[in-house]
Amino acid sequence: MPPSPFLPILLVTSCYTSIVAANDSATMAEFLTTLTPPPSGWSSSTPSCTWKGITCDSSRRVTTISLASQSLSGSLPSDLTSLTSLRLLYLQRNALSGPIPNLSSLVSLQEVNLDNNNFTSVPASVFKGLAGLQNLSISNNPNLLPWTIPADLADSPALVSLQAAGSNVFRMIPEFLGSLSSFPSLRLSYNNVSGPIPSSFNGSGIQNLWLNNQLIGMDGRIDVLASMTQLQQVWLHMNKFSGPIPDLSSCHSLFDIQLRDNDLTGIVPSTLTSLPSLVSVNLDSNKLQGPMPDNPRNIKLILGDSNSFCRDVPGPCDSQVTTLLEIAAALGYPLTLAESWTGNDACAGWTYVTCQGKDVIVITLSKQGLWGTISPAFAKLTPLKSIYLNDNDLTGSIPSSLTTLTQLQTLDVSNNNLSGSVPTFPPSVSLITSGNPLIGKILGDRSSGSGGSASGGLVAGVVVAVLVDENK
Ligand SMILES: *[C@@H]1O[C@H](CO)[C@@H](O)[C@H](O)[C@H]1NC(C)=O
Ligand SMILES: *[C@@H]1O[C@H](CO)[C@@H](O)[C@H](O)[C@H]1NC(C)=O
Ligand SMILES: *[C@@H]1O[C@H](CO)[C@@H](O)[C@H](O)[C@H]1NC(C)=O
Ligand SMILES: *[C@@H]1O[C@H](CO)[C@@H](O)[C@H](O)[C@H]1NC(C)=O
Ligand SMILES: *[C@@H]1O[C@H](CO)[C@@H](O)[C@H](O)[C@H]1NC(C)=O
Ligand SMILES: *[C@@H]1O[C@H](CO)[C@@H](O)[C@H](O)[C@H]1NC(C)=O
Ligand SMILES: *[C@@H]1O[C@H](CO)[C@@H](O)[C@H](O)[C@H]1NC(C)=O
Repeated sequence: MPPSPFLPILLVTSCYTSIVAANDSATMAEFLTTLTPPPSGWSSSTPSCTWKGITCDSSRRVTTISLASQSLSGSLPSDLTSLTSLRLLYLQRNALSGPIPNLSSLVSLQEVNLDNNNFTSVPASVFKGLAGLQNLSISNNPNLLPWTIPADLADSPALVSLQAAGSNVFRMIPEFLGSLSSFPSLRLSYNNVSGPIPSSFNGSGIQNLWLNNQLIGMDGRIDVLASMTQLQQVWLHMNKFSGPIPDLSSCHSLFDIQLRDNDLTGIVPSTLTSLPSLVSVNLDSNKLQGPMPDNPRNIKLILGDSNSFCRDVPGPCDSQVTTLLEIAAALGYPLTLAESWTGNDACAGWTYVTCQGKDVIVITLSKQGLWGTISPAFAKLTPLKSIYLNDNDLTGSIPSSLTTLTQLQTLDVSNNNLSGSVPTFPPSVSLITSGNPLIGKILGDRSSGSGGSASGGLVAGVVVAVLVDENK
């Protein structure tokens, strides 16, 4: 390099800076002593800014440490907080061990990659105050003591990617991740994460969501996916998610959704397999019900043979089965029903159902911990004689359509949380509504609940219209 005419000025500047600002040499010298073997091109006899993989700024402050794939072992200095100009820290694919060093308050830090090492712990507050952090990657560190996603990362509003697969993360995903303004990528596969997908993910811009293969399994429903319209790739397989697959027709960019090996129930939305970008779907080993999904776009569709579809080819279910699935839908498709209500014949030994010939005449769903509402579709099962829904947590009102069941003898809805007016049944029906504190009461809010007052208004309107008509 030819001698620069500016060199003396630079030297003066750097000497001046070294007096007023920090000097990273001591920290880097310590860094060097901790690593075995010493990284190629690192030597205590040369300035650290000249070491291979180290970049410094004009003030000789370290901005980049790049040591990926150097076969390094050893444990790092416990504290790197003096490297206040550090922007990029790449240590991936080595055999580094010991605790993750303290990076707290490194406000310039943008990207940290610690993937594929052998670190042993994530001490408290090491990721605190990282105001500029965009990408944090700490996947495949199988010897980490169980740790949770640190609440400190809420200090990193610019976070766009958090990758911590196979790193012994446990407990719940914190809500704040869904509130980050632009956070497209979350990978927590192969851990022991539990609990639900946070409700804050509703409407978030997450594109890649990899939560598959949790040791005990995440649970709860996956309805929130319907509002995550930027989704591209969703891997939720090998968990305990339950309830139905939501309508994902707003997820125009979704190309890959893996839902196998969960406890999903209900009817697969017919829109799923016709989503414009979709290439690959796996629904194997759930308890999905109703018609087997069609494959109009000839995507890679794996259904397996352990779901609860009514038939083994696409197409509508038997009408009695369809009606029972409507009843199950109003109850949120409980797993107990999905496990028993398989095949296309409700009279072939389904639990909770009693038949006479080919007709369902009794439905017994007492004490099943059910929530949800009573479906008006019960009225389609015209031979029904008895309906037992007592001792659950059902809400809503008793549908007036049930009064049309001419064979009905018993309707027991006692000990739920039903509300609204009670429709008028013929005297032949034994109707048991006790233990529903809100039933038959006029609620404070007249717009909610009472189907009675709404239909009363409708009747009055019809009468008025008829009167007006006659006065013409
Ligand atoms: C930084 O400190 C070391 C001693 O720890 C000294 O040798 C070096 O000259 C200093 N560097 C600058 C640029 O001042
Ligand atoms: C990781 O560290 C453990 C001891 O803590 C050791 O037994 C194991 O061999 C290390 N693995 C690798 C890949 O270095
Ligand atoms: C990390 O550094 C910060 C700031 O220097 C300090 O407050 C905190 O206690 C340190 N944490 C650990 C685990 O050493
Ligand atoms: C963070 O990752 C994203 C996506 O992988 C990438 O576009 C961006 O450049 C990364 N940020 C930094 C500071 O490297
Ligand atoms: C997995 O997480 C659960 C609940 O958070 C915990 O009780 C259990 O000990 C963890 N298992 C392992 C192997 O870490
Ligand atoms: C998501 O938010 C919207 C609008 O606030 C709401 O209507 C919807 O019910 C929410 N979805 C879930 C699953 O919570
Ligand atoms: C019953 O339902 C009402 C809404 O209709 C709800 O506010 C209340 O908390 C419920 N009570 C119980 C005991 O679940």
